[in-house]
Amino acid sequence: MVIPVNTFGESYDITLQSGALDKASEVFDLDRRVFILTDSGVPAGYAERIAAQSKWAHIKRIRQGEKSKCFEVLRSILSDMLSCGLGRDDCLVAVGGGVVGDMGGFAAASYMRGVDFYNVPTTLLAQVDSSVGGKTGINLDGVKNIVGAFYQPRAVLIDPETLDTLSPRYFSEGLAEAIKMAVTCDRELFELIEGCADIKAALPEIIERALRIKASVVEADPYEKGIRRVLNFGHTVGHAIESVNMGALLHGECVALGMLPMCDVSVRARLTAVLEKYALPTEITNTPAELLPFIERDKKRSRGAINAVFAPALGTFEIRPVSTEEIEKRLEMIL
Ligand SMILES: NC(=O)c1ccc[n+]([C@@H]2O[C@H](COP(=O)([O-])OP(=O)(O)OC[C@H]3O[C@@H](n4cnc5c(N)ncnc54)[C@H](O)[C@@H]3O)[C@@H](O)[C@H]2O)c1
Repeated sequence: MVIPVNTFGESYDITLQSGALDKASEVFDLDRRVFILTDSGVPAGYAERIAAQSKWAHIKRIRQGEKSKCFEVLRSILSDMLSCGLGRDDCLVAVGGGVVGDMGGFAAASYMRGVDFYNVPTTLLAQVDSSVGGKTGINLDGVKNIVGAFYQPRAVLIDPETLDTLSPRYFSEGLAEAIKMAVTCDRELFELIEGCADIKAALPEIIERALRIKASVVEADPYEKGIRRVLNFGHTVGHAIESVNMGALLHGECVALGMLPMCDVSVRARLTAVLEKYALPTEITNTPAELLPFIERDKKRSRGAINAVFAPALGTFEIRPVSTEEIEKRLEMIL
């Protein structure tokens, strides 16, 4: 299955296929120097299977985890690209989750002002969300993704078989991102996730439907000036929960919680049941007093206004400015 994505007058394909790792050379041009970025938590065989398809490949393995998304690690990646003799016509392939994808994309965007970037996402979050759309970057001084660039991959290769090795917690985290897209944009996808007895068997369809939503939204609004904000459903409160809990909860878990105050009562009941079904959190344990300062901080960064996403009914959304008072009321309603 191939899903095309068109942004900035350029297009690239997402190839979604079981066993696709061994067919990378059919989709990527690996007949040149290939710098493969992966991390210590990704089974080593995935990067090695890509490397085996090139005459000249170098594997760079960084330490797993969000802490690696920093200047020091970026510097060491760029430095290795240089010492490997990577040239303007060579390429970088990211093999891993959102951390490796975001950093790999930014390193590719920065090195020699841009070399070809291919993405092989191996977490569910990266497969349904972060590998598409061109957002790349690193964290700085505790602020997530504050340094970065929009840089589109040349191609994305998704092999759902890589999810067999993913921990259940990260699997559910990724599912939260697919649920987020389903609640706002695709009622049938929501019902598929809600009703399916065998989630593994349903995965190819879930990934495909989520990717089609993501692709259409980023095509319509590549720089997130309007409709792309729908992908931030659950983020207004989710970011605050993430900041207060300082790493105890995963991003997708915070998004799961952050969706609850932003939907209609009828949506919330079904959403809560689905989150419970997939072992995602459904109870916000922080008080509004703890969360609101972080929401205020985000508000200041966006020049005093927060545009929040609401789900008035399954498969629909509304984007409108929201006051801190309204968020407080909504939080109190569900706590
Ligand atoms: N660019 C975007 O549009 C975008 C969107 C959402 C999130 N993000 C970013 O994505 C990051 C989170 O991504 P993530 O959840 O994939 O985290 P991650 O990249 O840290 O991966 C999670 C863990 O799973 C391990 N792993 C990866 N693939 C595996 C596999 N197949 N089998 C076993 N273990 C595997 C990793 O080593 C890591 O320990 C955050 O930094 C976030 O800011 C970016």
